[in-house]
Amino acid sequence: MKIFVTRKIPGEHLDKLVASGYDVDISIFDRPLLPEELIQKVKGVDAIICLLTDKIDGAVMDAAGSSLKIIANYAVGFDNIEIREATDRGIVVANTSSTEVDESVAEHTWALILCLARRIIEADEATRRGAFRGWEPDVFLGVNLVGKTLGIIGLGKIGSYVAKRAKGYGMNVLYNKHNPDPEAEKEFGIKFASLDELLANSDFITLHVPLTDETGHMINAATLAKMKKGSFLVNTARGLIVEERALVDSLRSGHLGGAALDVFENEPNIHPELINMQNVVTTPHIASATHEARDKMSQQVVEAVLDSLSGKMPENIVNKDVWPKKRTS
Ligand code: GLV
Ligand code: GLV
Repeated sequence: MKIFVTRKIPGEHLDKLVASGYDVDISIFDRPLLPEELIQKVKGVDAIICLLTDKIDGAVMDAAGSSLKIIANYAVGFDNIEIREATDRGIVVANTSSTEVDESVAEHTWALILCLARRIIEADEATRRGAFRGWEPDVFLGVNLVGKTLGIIGLGKIGSYVAKRAKGYGMNVLYNKHNPDPEAEKEFGIKFASLDELLANSDFITLHVPLTDETGHMINAATLAKMKKGSFLVNTARGLIVEERALVDSLRSGHLGGAALDVFENEPNIHPELINMQNVVTTPHIASATHEARDKMSQQVVEAVLDSLSGKMPENIVNKDVWPKKRTS
């Protein structure tokens, strides 16, 4: 059986596939494949291991043909894959959510919150350019986190790990999700809020929803206007959840105090005004970029493929409803 890997992934886990007797083809390019390259490479494969930078739609699935049984996405988010198209064709889709990865994203979120609160990036830039003149009473004043309110939009695993860490900083936490989660409220001492309440009362807002039709541009001119003056926005979820144009306007007007972004609307492009703002912190989509997380992700995509091809439901299947009607040969 044939497995195509769209780009080399960290660790030695792919060797396990080869050792199991599979024919493993790893893209030789250190970049995302062009759509036409992807279409060529997937022909006749049984499994695809892909990245979030690969758009896997019905056309790619059809190019692979009826042998394709599993798509394992080297990411937690899977908005790059047309899930309904996969399910309709009997193709299993798996992602790489795990404690290691989800905690890595939560830790990066906190790194960004702290950078915003204490103006770490601006201050670092100033010391490097020789602007440190000795201790001064009023340079780089930030804000204390203790006693402030953190608003978490989306309380899945990553959102929960962010909430858990808020206690250590003495923050009050509001969260919003479809259904209130009384267990999480008890465990983390957090409070459910409607989206409007959360927007109006949070000093820091962090996004942890998947990108869907419902969450696309949920942070826009109208929702930004509902945020507290001087509050901060953190996005480690998906760029398209935030309308960058509106974010720029809000930051420029001084309504928003700052933003920290790991993801962008049109990666790898970043709105040119954002990148020039002192109160904006950017990282290049690295929230899961720890050795621990990326190694675990490699292990998971390999296990998802091995499990699926041997008839076992992968632990991280995202379209469980496909299982009774999945392709078997
Ligand atoms: C990264 O963005 C991921 O979804 O894993
Ligand atoms: C700061 O360094 C202080 O001593 O207050």
